[in-house]
Amino acid sequence: MDTNNASVDSWEEVILIYSSAMKEMVTRLEILSNEFQHTHSYNPIEHLKSRLKTPESIVKKLRRHGYESSIENMVTYVKDIAGVRVICSFTSDVYKIAEAITAQSDIEILSVKDYIKNPKPSGYQSYHIIALVPVYLSDQKIDTKVEIQIRTIAMDFWASLEHKINYKFDGNVPEEIRNQLVDCAGRIRDLDDRMLSLNEEVQKANAPGAETKQQ
Ligand code: GTP
Ligand code: MG
Repeated sequence: MDTNNASVDSWEEVILIYSSAMKEMVTRLEILSNEFQHTHSYNPIEHLKSRLKTPESIVKKLRRHGYESSIENMVTYVKDIAGVRVICSFTSDVYKIAEAITAQSDIEILSVKDYIKNPKPSGYQSYHIIALVPVYLSDQKIDTKVEIQIRTIAMDFWASLEHKINYKFDGNVPEEIRNQLVDCAGRIRDLDDRMLSLNEEVQKANAPGAETKQQ
């Protein structure tokens, strides 16, 4: 969002803009999902989730990074106030969705983190995009940051358990449990790879002309 814009001055207005940007992104993803369903009878998106960061966690994040709580700091430094999570069946779908969103001409991509190609030391896998989405108000356009996390069902399963474990141990997860999580992440990668190849095999077998029909 343009921080120099004098008209964006109140908390409520800022939240309204982020909420609009989030809706905008969800709609774009739903359109892609419907289009895939219509033209390929196949849907790369299993489901979509979206959330606005709570004021408490915005303030907490600013404090953690050593910034005072101000609208300007929040708009500049907190990149995940509006967050959308896209859950796909297969790893290939993750990249399909990322490509389609990146290709939209009025969306600017600020950063990409591919934790599928390069998982985090925790084992975390996901594809992250910070995008600027245009929000049209009556008299101006405000490009607003939205964080998009795209991952498979299996990666999401892992991330939600890991998140709960981290919360339970207040961030100090015992080494033995951390090692188990890293091991599970490896198994999830293996599972995703196998499910993808299995699906590709089935697709090939079902393709017209794949079998020589006996007359
Ligand atoms: P924050 O971690 O949000 O401060 O941002 P960052 O700039 O470090 O970006 P990063 O890509 O590391 O993380 C963005 C978001 O991804 C986080 O807010 C989490 O929702 C998610 N995430 C990142 N790492 C992990 C992880 O190890 N486990 C889980 N469960 N989620 C993670
Ligand atoms: Mg982080």
